[in-house]
Amino acid sequence: PVRYISNHSSGKQGHAIAGALAAMGAEVRLVSGPVTISDPSGVSVTRVETAREMLAAVEGLLPADAAIMVAAVADWRTETESDQKIKKEPGKGAPPLTMTENPDILRTIGHHEKRPKLVIGFAAETDDLIANATAKLSRKGADMIIANDVSTKTGIGGAQGVMGGDRNRVRIISHDGVEEWPELSKQETAERIARLVADRLTGKR
Ligand code: C5P
Repeated sequence: PVRYISNHSSGKQGHAIAGALAAMGAEVRLVSGPVTISDPSGVSVTRVETAREMLAAVEGLLPADAAIMVAAVADWRTETESDQKIKKEPGKGAPPLTMTENPDILRTIGHHEKRPKLVIGFAAETDDLIANATAKLSRKGADMIIANDVSTKTGIGGAQGVMGGDRNRVRIISHDGVEEWPELSKQETAERIARLVADRLTGKR
């Protein structure tokens, strides 16, 4: 109830994409983990706390024309959960934690019998951005991976970095190759992604 393991993410980029698609007239369902930002307008929001809840919520929304998977889902969770705070005891040292794998939501949806026509995933990488994102494209069954460099050394945003910041610089990796976008606000990035989704769904690109 007190200590937990999670992937840190503000939800800003995902919320901005949901809002941008709704502004273009799409019917948008947003499944969001715990965030402190407000819901985008014109979007129906389902709140979840765990990866398993997120998978169930996303599967419950199928069929859909497109799925855009932006959440920084934790790959692992602790095998057991304590209903009382795990206390620090003098001389006892750190408690051993056994981890177990969370479901991979993107991979499940990318190979789903009700797979949306367009499946887009994200990749937050600290190294070998293009190689890692390209590998993810086929492994996850995605049509597109939007990659951002989150290392504070080479990524943007200085000490704050992409996570939690308001700016982003992404590369779009698809079966057609790699497209580099300039550093933009997360809002501008979202608007471009929304246009890209619309173009893909209508066969314009
Ligand atoms: O495998 P990795 O976490 O690097 O891949 C990132 C992409 O996979 C993101 O689109 C993220 O939302 C998705 N993901 C997921 N379920 C997980 C882990 C990642 O859907 N358990």
